[in-house]
Amino acid sequence: MPTSNPAPPEREQLLPYARHWIDDDDIAAVVQVLRSDYLTCGPAVEQFERKIAEYVDAAYAVSFSNGTAALHAACHAAGIGLADQVITTPMTFAASANCILYQGGIPVFADIDERTYNLDPESVEREITEDTKAIIPVDFTGQPADLDSILELARKRGIIVIEDAAHALGAEYKGQKVGGISDMTMFSFHPAKLITSGEGGVITTNNKTYYERLLQFRTHGITRDASSWNKAGSRWYYEMQFLGYNYRLSDLQAALAISQMDKLENFIARRKHIASKYNEAFAECPQLQLPYQAQAGVSSWHLYIIQLRLEQLSGTRDDIYEALLHENIGVNVHYIPVYLHPHYQKLGYPERICPKAERIYERMITLPLFPAMSEQDVDDVIRSVRRIMERYSI
Ligand SMILES: Cc1ncc(COP(=O)(O)O)c(C=O)c1O
Repeated sequence: MPTSNPAPPEREQLLPYARHWIDDDDIAAVVQVLRSDYLTCGPAVEQFERKIAEYVDAAYAVSFSNGTAALHAACHAAGIGLADQVITTPMTFAASANCILYQGGIPVFADIDERTYNLDPESVEREITEDTKAIIPVDFTGQPADLDSILELARKRGIIVIEDAAHALGAEYKGQKVGGISDMTMFSFHPAKLITSGEGGVITTNNKTYYERLLQFRTHGITRDASSWNKAGSRWYYEMQFLGYNYRLSDLQAALAISQMDKLENFIARRKHIASKYNEAFAECPQLQLPYQAQAGVSSWHLYIIQLRLEQLSGTRDDIYEALLHENIGVNVHYIPVYLHPHYQKLGYPERICPKAERIYERMITLPLFPAMSEQDVDDVIRSVRRIMERYSI
């Protein structure tokens, strides 16, 4: 353990772990919508949907008020209902599993690969039963999951794959952008993500049936398409055919998202640059395990996570976390394994069902990574991490 009190921080202001980038083009795009005839359900939403579908090379895109709503809609479109089992990872934000509960389904947690932290296909296979309706892999930190293996397991058994790519807009898997590979793919536009619309999400798919269900779910289960009505109606007529929600994205948000899309490649390039600076600088820290990149994928680097080799350190993860925070480095932890949350514990999930995820969780720290970080910010993180590793080194 360190013997003296830590020196005062060299950085005066807290560097957050994530931050959006908004410039004058973004502001002008939103103002233009404010002066237009449509604040919601207008041309900007359609334009954004076309733009993102084209970018990921998918036939269809349906936008939603947030990524969680998008996942909920995807579960509905996949036909997930009471007591259907859906396999997902515990190493994710609660939304990836909550969307299953919303539909009355049962989240089943498979363990992760110790190198990529993504779902381990062998563990997924062990959890498949007659009642498995879908798999929700998460492209954790922006690195695509092992999609070929997961899709192969699913295709053989008629299981639907809903990819949670909240972290992975712009990421590639075997030369193809994620978004057109799985049955449905979700992207989130929360301000910490690759691009932002304030709040927002999208599902991309190549399946017309899913597309139509998603559209209808987003607006109360209502359709104005006369060909699907249960009875003949006038031109004003519409039908609510199932219980849907108001999960629409507004045109204000869509305009911001369109403008952000134009900067996406630059954002990702900047993220990659920062990640490679970290990789280079921390290669000399034996106390750290650095992010592993599988050959099949190209990450969009949403998060940069270090894993602490606690056997080489005199402190716990929380000691290191507090020491970094003391230096004004805004660290975070992604994620508490979902089934350890009190709500899931109350549902009866036992501890230790995914021992690899739990072990890695206890060793993880997320470092700041976002395009607006200056070189000085990056250097500050590197200096602080190195200093703290030395201080706590055994
Ligand atoms: C992996 C993952 N899935 C789902 C979500 C939910 O997205 P949103 O915050 O847009 O509802 C998030 C975002 O926080 C996420 O990180």
